[in-house]
Amino acid sequence: MEINANTKLYGLIGHPVEHSLSPLIHNYAFNSLDLNCVYTVFDVLPEKLEEAVKGVKALGIRGVNVTVPHKEKIIKYLDVISEEALKIGAVNTVVNEEGILKGYNTDVYGFIDSLTEVGEKIEGRKAVVLGAGGASKAVCVALALKGIDSIIIANRSVERAKDLSEYIKKEFKIQCDYCSINEVKELPEIDILVNTTSVGMYPNTEDSPADEKVVLKAKFVYDLIYNPFETALLKHAKKNGIKYSNGLSMLVNQANYSFKLWTGGFFDKNLVYRYLKEGITHNL
Ligand code: ATR
Repeated sequence: MEINANTKLYGLIGHPVEHSLSPLIHNYAFNSLDLNCVYTVFDVLPEKLEEAVKGVKALGIRGVNVTVPHKEKIIKYLDVISEEALKIGAVNTVVNEEGILKGYNTDVYGFIDSLTEVGEKIEGRKAVVLGAGGASKAVCVALALKGIDSIIIANRSVERAKDLSEYIKKEFKIQCDYCSINEVKELPEIDILVNTTSVGMYPNTEDSPADEKVVLKAKFVYDLIYNPFETALLKHAKKNGIKYSNGLSMLVNQANYSFKLWTGGFFDKNLVYRYLKEGITHNL
């Protein structure tokens, strides 16, 4: 695609942003659909966020993704916030509709699709979510929206797990307990075990947020990490014949919902998966 005077600009606002896979996903999708659009990254320091948002408006940038550390703070600079983004208190996608900036959160639907893709049902099941940060909140909201029976949030800092569990209970009226991440080994059976912590992420690939004994209690294990493809946690699952999935699907699915908000249509997920898997295998 030739970049010219009609090219629409999209991007990612975050800090740091240089390892993001979002430019690869969106530019590949734009090209495959012959759309005259381009996606780049904007490394924005926290103190420059307000100016950056004004810049999106002033320059007519058509849309941006938002990542750490701006997902929560950007809300006050936007004109309209979707219901799900308000519920999570975080925006990961902004659409510039003729100067009106609308904030959405596609992480929730991205996570739901990732389980649906591998045939995992959420309704009526019992989940254990490791971690209590922003990613955990999106996962817990997704599980609650799709009718999970109960959630246990396990975190290193128990106070954070308690706060998130109280929020989920209050918002969704479901059973949501919490414990220390060291206490998960004492839990009985787990239907869905989700890791939202950064434990096991490259370069600390030997680390696992839960040991093999915990994984043995689970029927399905989802790790939000995709670098490496197979974390130590997922290796425990694989070794014991337990169904598992990595975070690449959530990354691609949330991107696809952003893409839909910007262009009106979805991209072909399978093409994007294939492209990313080839790229990641060769570069990492
Ligand atoms: P995100 O938006 O990706 O969720 P975050 O809000 O910084 O990022 O949350 C990171 C999560 O990983 C937290 O649950 C954090 O635990 P604490 O709340 O106790 O900090 C968890 N985490 C990060 N490093 C960890 C480690 N070495 N051991 C256990 N948990 C860890």
